[in-house]
Amino acid sequence: MKVLVAGATGGTGRWIVQALVDRQIPVKALVRNLDLAKNLFPPEVELVLGDVLKPETLKNVIADCTVLICATGAKPSLDFTGPLQVDYFGTKNLVDIAKSSGIEHFVLVTSLCVSQFFHPLNLFWLILFWKQQAENYLKESGLTYTIVRPGGLKNEDNTYPIVMSSADTLFEGSIPRQKVAHICVESLFQAASRNKIVEIVCKADAPAVSDEQLFAQV
Ligand SMILES: NC(=O)c1ccc[n+]([C@@H]2O[C@H](COP(=O)([O-])OP(=O)(O)OC[C@H]3O[C@@H](n4cnc5c(N)ncnc54)[C@H](OP(=O)(O)O)[C@@H]3O)[C@@H](O)[C@H]2O)c1
Repeated sequence: MKVLVAGATGGTGRWIVQALVDRQIPVKALVRNLDLAKNLFPPEVELVLGDVLKPETLKNVIADCTVLICATGAKPSLDFTGPLQVDYFGTKNLVDIAKSSGIEHFVLVTSLCVSQFFHPLNLFWLILFWKQQAENYLKESGLTYTIVRPGGLKNEDNTYPIVMSSADTLFEGSIPRQKVAHICVESLFQAASRNKIVEIVCKADAPAVSDEQLFAQV
């Protein structure tokens, strides 16, 4: 297994890379800023320059990978095309390249509430809407996928158990980025994660269950 991580220098992406390194899984980080990446990651992480909006920069970098984990996302800005470009077209480009390269498993991080058109987050240039279009494109691609929809992302880790649920069943809550990364990487080892949408948050009073049980119950 060799994993390409798109959005590797992002808040969640960097934890995904770290979780892969911790499990000694070969990892290639797709980055836009090599200097930042060099300071973030240990030397065993292969760094490749690329932009999801420029498919020509993706073809060669994906060639020797078997898995793609995508944690890209548009940053809040005045550019109303940001989410359309990054969250939809960018992911669509990755799906197309993954398909033509024979990627065995595509893990996509999106968000809770992508199906709620009138959600306030859609005031940010329809970001949830475009994420859902990207999910649909991946689902219809024929690739094996896991779509991970986290609640509000937190930088501080906690010891609260993870709650995992099926599509369009969780509408609030938060989760540390480290735990999202853990679930993305764990999905590669859980047969029950295949071709599923999983919604995840953390709750202090939730029962602690194994990763295997989390995926099996969805
Ligand atoms: N914030 C929340 O509470 C929340 C809640 C639920 C879901 N989410 C979603 O979860 C995902 C991860 O969130 P996050 O906060 O960890 O993300 P983040 O820190 O904003 O990182 C986003 C990553 O996407 C990369 N990126 C953007 N445009 C790109 C392009 N054209 N080509 C290649 N890479 C590109 C960025 O690259 P650079 O590092 O080069 O800028 C960055 O690495 C996002 O999809 C986000 O929308 C967020």
